[in-house]
Amino acid sequence: MKAMTIRIAPSILSADFCNLERDLKAISNADLVHVDVMDHHFVPNLTLGEPIVKRICEVTELPVDVHLMIEDPDRWAPEYAKLGAASVSFHMGAAHAPVRLARQLREMGCQACYAVRPAEPVEPIFDILDEFDMILIMTVEPGFGGQKFLTNQMAKVRRLRDEITRRGLGTHIQVDGGVSPSTATTVAAAGADVLVAGSAVYGAASPVAAIDAIRERAQGAYRD
Ligand code: DX5
Ligand code: ZN
Repeated sequence: MKAMTIRIAPSILSADFCNLERDLKAISNADLVHVDVMDHHFVPNLTLGEPIVKRICEVTELPVDVHLMIEDPDRWAPEYAKLGAASVSFHMGAAHAPVRLARQLREMGCQACYAVRPAEPVEPIFDILDEFDMILIMTVEPGFGGQKFLTNQMAKVRRLRDEITRRGLGTHIQVDGGVSPSTATTVAAAGADVLVAGSAVYGAASPVAAIDAIRERAQGAYRD
């Protein structure tokens, strides 16, 4: 098992949408930029879509990690790959043919990521694990930033990391929701290596310092 490097993905959901370019520059020490696409159907919130993701991909030097909280990702996910997203996450509760979609994204040179809500089990993914580059374990109910971290998702992260390690796979585990310097140690100790943080980064006086703090805490606590 190769050692995992912790990566931090600030979520621009907590950025100022009228100053996106400025707020993208404010996270220059991040590893990825996490973009939450919501459609008012799969989740009770509406954010942004293709035209804005296109501009984000053009403006930032960071790899763009698109988190689709939308219905019918089978139809829409490839469009985001086409725009230049480095990775696209789609939800277990939304995709009709997840294996076909994951293969399509990978053929387009985009990483495929499968997202799991808090009440959804991770075990059904085990048989199709090698179809994905990353599994996203939600640590809040998707839809809004600034919610409280769900500690009860850590057993799921541990079971997934154990399975990945047992099979010698390189699958990444992303956690999203309520991640801060104080919960970073918990998620990394459970085996997550990609940490999304919205309010903890953009709500901080210094987003750069918040990213460093989350990374440092997580790197020290990571286990595989
Ligand atoms: C929630 C989104 C998250 C959100 C996280 O549905 O998927 O990416 O921005 O925000 P925080 O870090 O504030 O919980
Ligand atoms: Zn997200």
